[in-house]
Amino acid sequence: MSGADKHYTIDDKFITLKGNVIDVEVTAVPILFDNKRAIQVIVRDVTERKRAAQQILKERNRAEQYLESAQVMMLFLNEKGIVKMINRKGSEILGYSKQYIIGENWFEKFIPKEDTAKMKEIFASAIKGEIDFVQYYENPVLCRYNKVRIIGWHNNFVKDSSGEIYGVLSSGEDITESIRLKNELQKSNEELTRLSIHMRDIREKERLSLARELHDDLGQALTAIKMDLMFSMSSLREEDELLKKKLNSAMDLTAHSIKTTQQITSELRPSMIDDLGLIPAVEWYTSQFMERSSIKINLDIDVEESAFKNDFKINIYRILQECLTNAARHSKASRVSIKFKKQNNNVILTINDNGIGLESSKLTDPNSFGLIGLKERAYSLNGKISFKGKKNKGTLVEVVFPLNK
Ligand SMILES: Nc1ncnc2c1ncn2[C@@H]1O[C@H](COP(=O)(O)OP(=O)(O)OP(=O)(O)O)[C@@H](O)[C@H]1O
Ligand SMILES: [Mg+2]
Repeated sequence: MSGADKHYTIDDKFITLKGNVIDVEVTAVPILFDNKRAIQVIVRDVTERKRAAQQILKERNRAEQYLESAQVMMLFLNEKGIVKMINRKGSEILGYSKQYIIGENWFEKFIPKEDTAKMKEIFASAIKGEIDFVQYYENPVLCRYNKVRIIGWHNNFVKDSSGEIYGVLSSGEDITESIRLKNELQKSNEELTRLSIHMRDIREKERLSLARELHDDLGQALTAIKMDLMFSMSSLREEDELLKKKLNSAMDLTAHSIKTTQQITSELRPSMIDDLGLIPAVEWYTSQFMERSSIKINLDIDVEESAFKNDFKINIYRILQECLTNAARHSKASRVSIKFKKQNNNVILTINDNGIGLESSKLTDPNSFGLIGLKERAYSLNGKISFKGKKNKGTLVEVVFPLNK
């Protein structure tokens, strides 16, 4: 470098004629002027440039502060998967210092061995734009002492001014605990459902044995009494008017008790299901129902008895019973249409009333025990149940369960 090329620059502050203080950059360059050594001084007003630079610095500091105080992990990986930036929360989750983490290959160091290759491949393809970049995903991350934590990531490509991707900025939330709680909650929900189904099964069995007792014991006894009364009646003399009256009344009472016992027995356990099948039991129940209520039922059974698994029958019957009871109690409907249809390997049962419509809030109401029972019975059928209520247009309950094969 020749002497004439040398220059010296200093930052200074000047006061203008108006009395304002400005930032200046003073550059002094030795030159030859008229063949004599001289110094050329250039003064540049850099107030605006300095202010802009300070602003940038301030914003950068603020951004860094945000990153540091963020309650999520912030991570920047370059296009090779090398960690270029991680915030305080990130180093806290991983259990290593920032210095230790920065510069490491993310996939080789912080992804469990079994996932490394797959994750590396996905990352490389995403950077090259070969696959659609996933904005959110969850994956296990290997932390200090080989602890694995599940992180939910939100990702953003970082591009340079020419649009080239040079890295990925991700924010990651440690969701290990919430996943564990969710799983536990689901497990305990499943346990409760199983318990509830079990209790229902026990209740059905108890009803069955109670119905048998009533039928075999009380029923037989009442029939025996009735026969004895008839025998006594036939042995009466003409003049025993009073006794005859008493016996007649006892016979009426006995007949009434027999009927009541039969009714209770069939309420407890519709023996017709076991004796004749589900379809006759449903036909009998709906005709009884129409006699007792002002609702007209249209019953359309397009499946044969053999379509129903034996174990399912009582549950199907109870579902129908509850839906019709609900229709009578709540819907103000004048008609209910019941259909059994086959579709693929399933039976579809629909119960449709033309009433006021089931409000959707009732579906999630924990006190809707009838509706909860319907869901559990559908579950016992390995099936699905859905409810559709439309204001003043009625309610549709649809149960889909597997055919007996
Ligand atoms: N077909 C229907 N039309 C209109 N509303 C209905 C119908 N079925 C049920 N509901 C509404 O949903 C609520 C919950 O029904 P659910 O069967 O669970 O209870 P419930 O019939 O009131 O009592 P139970 O426990 O004796 O069945 C009912 O109180 C009623 O408001
Ligand atoms: Mg009900």
